[in-house]
Amino acid sequence: MTPDPICRTLTHSEAETEALGQELARELRPGSVVLISGNLGAGKTALVRGLAAGLGIDPGDVTSPTFTLVHEYRGGRLALYHVDLYRLDRAAAEDLGLEELGVADGALAIEWPDRLTHALPGARRVDIAIVDDTTRRIEVGSRR
Ligand SMILES: Nc1ncnc2c1ncn2[C@@H]1O[C@H](COP(=O)(O)OP(=O)(O)O)[C@@H](O)[C@H]1O
Ligand SMILES: [Mg+2]
Repeated sequence: MTPDPICRTLTHSEAETEALGQELARELRPGSVVLISGNLGAGKTALVRGLAAGLGIDPGDVTSPTFTLVHEYRGGRLALYHVDLYRLDRAAAEDLGLEELGVADGALAIEWPDRLTHALPGARRVDIAIVDDTTRRIEVGSRR
């Protein structure tokens, strides 16, 4: 939950959530971090597909990184690193060394960021809440 969302919007389909991700991609720079929270099935991966599309990456490349901890998608104006911490406990998440990821050449999108043990300064928070079958309330926070 973001106390100071700069944008709160409803989407009514997966495609609309992807479109929002695509818009957010415009601000991505090397080292950008997007923390995406929300329950299972909220649409976090859908949003990441939009980020990819907005960077010029084939959104079909984006899958749920269940067994691979970090997915790396190339072919766009920036590399996109995609991490899903769902199955990790906090100690394991710490070992991933996520602070070092992305800073060089890409942007980093993290699902289940509550598993992180340390703050990632400058990260953009996106929180997705399930309203009903097809409706999601999406809050985009300011960077901090
Ligand atoms: N407005 C919406 N935005 C995003 N996904 C939606 C929406 N409405 C329904 N869905 C469905 O919810 C599911 C979201 O899946 P996914 O993006 O993998 O979620 P998460 O990564 O948060 O677990 C998909 O099956 C998608 O079709
Ligand atoms: Mg997911």
